[in-house]
Amino acid sequence: MTIQNHDWWRGAVMYQVYPRSFMDSNNDGIGDLPGITDRLEYIASLGVEGIWISPFFRSPMKDFGYDISDYRDVDPIFGKNEDFDLLIEKAHRLGIKVIIDMVLSHTSDKHPWFVESKNSRTNARADWYVWADPKPDGSPPNNWHSQFGGPAWTFDTRRGQYYMHNFLKEQPDLNYHCPDVQDAILNTCQYWLERGVDGLRLDVINFLFCDKELRDNPARIPGEGENCIQVEAPYPYIMQQHIYDKSRPEMIGFLNRLHDLMAEYPGTMTLAEIGDDHPFETARQYTSHARPLKTAYNTDMMSGNVGKKVTAGTIKQPILRALEKCPESWMSWAFSNHDVVRTVSRWGQDQSHNPAVAKMFMALLTSLRGTIFLFQGEELGLTEADIPFERIQDPWGLSMWPEWKGRDGCRTPMPWHSKRPHTGFSETSGETWLPIPEIHTQNAVNLQEADPNSMLNFTREFLKWRKENPVLIDGDIHFLEVMDEEIIAFERCRGHEKMLCVFNLGPQDKECALSFDGQTHICRLKGFEFQVGDFISARDAKSPETAEIIQLRTA
Ligand code: BGC
Repeated sequence: MTIQNHDWWRGAVMYQVYPRSFMDSNNDGIGDLPGITDRLEYIASLGVEGIWISPFFRSPMKDFGYDISDYRDVDPIFGKNEDFDLLIEKAHRLGIKVIIDMVLSHTSDKHPWFVESKNSRTNARADWYVWADPKPDGSPPNNWHSQFGGPAWTFDTRRGQYYMHNFLKEQPDLNYHCPDVQDAILNTCQYWLERGVDGLRLDVINFLFCDKELRDNPARIPGEGENCIQVEAPYPYIMQQHIYDKSRPEMIGFLNRLHDLMAEYPGTMTLAEIGDDHPFETARQYTSHARPLKTAYNTDMMSGNVGKKVTAGTIKQPILRALEKCPESWMSWAFSNHDVVRTVSRWGQDQSHNPAVAKMFMALLTSLRGTIFLFQGEELGLTEADIPFERIQDPWGLSMWPEWKGRDGCRTPMPWHSKRPHTGFSETSGETWLPIPEIHTQNAVNLQEADPNSMLNFTREFLKWRKENPVLIDGDIHFLEVMDEEIIAFERCRGHEKMLCVFNLGPQDKECALSFDGQTHICRLKGFEFQVGDFISARDAKSPETAEIIQLRTA
């Protein structure tokens, strides 16, 4: 009898697949589910525990799948429901868990629920969305903004009312104060649980409820709360405290219902995406003692543009805040995803193409305490692509160009092969949905497979070694005092086991003093070098000066 580990997600490394850009099996220039199934051996070879697949449900693709018009149907671009069954069956055979992306806060405006809701003020689904009368002067009901720019309200002439949308006007927000909406949404979650998924990534989960009285948000107090948005451009959304349009107290009631449903499927997990000025307070409410949700993450470590400098504080502060604000929660961490600039371009300064940079950030991320999410291509050290305006797809990028270019730069197709033009991703005779940068050819999987020192092989080795060292999986984390902001150092501890982790986040060679195990030690690291390993206890060392880190892993 095999004993099921229901807590498999604690300390797991997960791999995010963005289906449009992973593998195109039918040569239409867009990735699909059979493409993912075809490449599952590759994913298994990385040594990750599971995958999170971004939305593949039926959608008009205004926000590339985050605008769903049928929660139960695979979009024909991505295949059929049977293709998903084949994917999950093969993934499970290979020991890979599968979690899917449930976008519960809003639907597409083409969803039959919304089509019916906007038909009249009296139909059966009239209150399934957030509708409100105009103010006497015709202006929107309150001052809420859409995260993608502009007001959060669009006027509908048939109902003579405004409807609310936290994102595009084509993504109307569901009204969770209506019990029927909750029931319908829970039924859709159950539909996929029945199909065998191992968990749900809950898109912007704290956005589900808004204030019943639709009160105005107050102005943001400068310096208070975290800016949870990756945009670095003047932008009204971040000028408010979002206390009435999200993270409302009613959330817990709904999440408890979701928890009860998940409990009927033992061994499943929930990952909350929290976009909030106080993400760790919200995480405490949602995930303390893994109830009602299992784990949460936010974009704290992900904001910023190309060339932004990373310091120890960038990594350390969110972790310390999490330890302080939600000590009972098991957090998840990621450096990148389909919404933000790729890690090496954001933090690699002028060395984003240097493999040492990609290796160091991979080792740093996967040495943190938590569940870790990698984004496809991170294992190849892919850089952010520079997409010309004519090829931009992201509606958010189009609305803010050129101050902010949107999210296409991290969403380009995978370079499986060094053969241009479509790098083994697609055989289409036309163009792929986003162009594949010339420079990514150098990072192609076939080239990296053949090179024992490649970033890809480094990732495999490091993750394999991580699995053999449980202290890296669920050990505690303690930061060491370092005078240099470009060095981050911490210990992972589990009973008597200890592991020291030191990373040079910058290009300069460094020498720094580290105090651990009752002694001060000198640690020398080249630019972007790191050491993760056991260390000789000062007691065993010949002298304090010779006590040194055993270099189990270095860049
Ligand atoms: C997703 C985005 C999406 C937004 C609206 C997010 O946080 O990750 O890609 O545009 O939710 O659904």
